[in-house]
Amino acid sequence: MKASNTKNLPKIFVLRWGHRPKRDLRLTTHVALTARALGASGFILSDIEDEKIKTTLEKVVKNWGGPFHFEMGTPWKKVVKEWKAKGGSVVHLTAYGENIETSDVLQRIKALNRDILVIVGSQKVPGEFFSENVSDFNVAIGNQPHSECASLAVFLDRFFEGKELAKNFMGAKLIIIPQRRGKKVIRKVNSESEIRKEI
Ligand SMILES: C[S@@+](CC[C@H](N)C(=O)[O-])C[C@H]1O[C@@H](n2cnc3c(N)ncnc32)[C@H](O)[C@@H]1O
Repeated sequence: MKASNTKNLPKIFVLRWGHRPKRDLRLTTHVALTARALGASGFILSDIEDEKIKTTLEKVVKNWGGPFHFEMGTPWKKVVKEWKAKGGSVVHLTAYGENIETSDVLQRIKALNRDILVIVGSQKVPGEFFSENVSDFNVAIGNQPHSECASLAVFLDRFFEGKELAKNFMGAKLIIIPQRRGKKVIRKVNSESEIRKEI
């Protein structure tokens, strides 16, 4: 299998704003899983804590590998302030932004070669998110409203140019061996050197 090399590319963290525990549990979990699977290095559930999401993410990282940073409850303003202070860029995904296909916004983001905090909303986001105090770029994955999960997936895939889809995850206990048909998963028994068992 062709190994992926996203190592030298800037790191991307995803900030999920506006999570409503009863309503958004499944979707926020999918946003976090999408972030991990498509090459982001971390996920921040801002302003609120949800133990169910933390538990799911920890379990996925334990079984399927990492590293992947998870954080919750930190106020979004603090995250953005600290991110910018460290020299990172902030990209807000919004249907109202510069179209990723018809503008040069992705080239401008890449040209900075900085780590990126990608903000996705759920409910209507604060107007401040659009301002330059918060977002260096407002990026639209097409100018039609759809989903935070879909917009994040397309952004990550375009940013990493597909390389993230071949990424190796460190310390994985479970590894899928791609098949034309059916399922093949191997489980690492203890460490790299030990025999792998098919399950
Ligand atoms: C389901 S939308 C809800 C938006 C909300 N009704 C509003 O008016 O702001 C939730 C999130 O999905 C993302 N999103 C939806 N459509 C998008 C698009 N076309 N491009 C980029 N992001 C999008 C944005 O991050 C948005 O905050």
